[in-house]
Amino acid sequence: MSRSSFLIAPSILSADFTCLREQIATCQAAGADWIHVDVMDGHFVPNLTMGPFIVEHLRRITDLPLDVHLMVEHPDTLLEAFARAGATYLTVHIEACADVQSTLKHIKSLGCQAGLTLNPATPPEALRSALPLADLVLVMTVHPGYAGQKFREDQLPKVRTVRQMLETIHSSAWLEVDGGVSAENIPKLKEAGANVFVAASAIFQHPQGIAAGIQAMRQALA
Ligand code: DX5
Ligand code: ZN
Repeated sequence: MSRSSFLIAPSILSADFTCLREQIATCQAAGADWIHVDVMDGHFVPNLTMGPFIVEHLRRITDLPLDVHLMVEHPDTLLEAFARAGATYLTVHIEACADVQSTLKHIKSLGCQAGLTLNPATPPEALRSALPLADLVLVMTVHPGYAGQKFREDQLPKVRTVRQMLETIHSSAWLEVDGGVSAENIPKLKEAGANVFVAASAIFQHPQGIAAGIQAMRQALA
């Protein structure tokens, strides 16, 4: 997929798990590009969600890339299990890594694409040394932990800074945003340099349904 495109990644954190297969099929038919999987361990963030088991089942019901966001302490101990389960992207929090460069190399050695993310309070400069190794940088636009939180406008300058940092090193890494993303704020995020847009509520809680949620995001990107 060309890096000049704009991708939509529904986060299944707000999906109806009693009919996950149908919900994923609806996302795919409506033009979703990736499926975003929010892994929370009850330590790095208070919430507890999905493990490799879910990724393994997703891998069997869709051929879309699986974008796995690891909100966990000690991510290194879990990388192999998620890679084996079929993750495409494995994104780790810089705050949770003792040696971020070695973690990104570990991800690549498992045959996955390596993503790096940072909490709203973490400055973009923290990314610098590991940036050349990243296939994806995720700027969190809420404090991680739950779907349905309010988009943080104060993270827009960070998106802009990370875009500049990527350009400076001629990196073609994806620049993803996650948290409170919706058709309303997509134009600003796009303008700031983001090209992958994660959304849970704006898609799975859209009053007219999943397909309408994805279409509204796509229109906002046009
Ligand atoms: C938040 C997760 C997000 C979340 C987004 O910690 O990383 O991916 O599911 O949910 P919305 O789009 O509802 O803010
Ligand atoms: Zn996420």
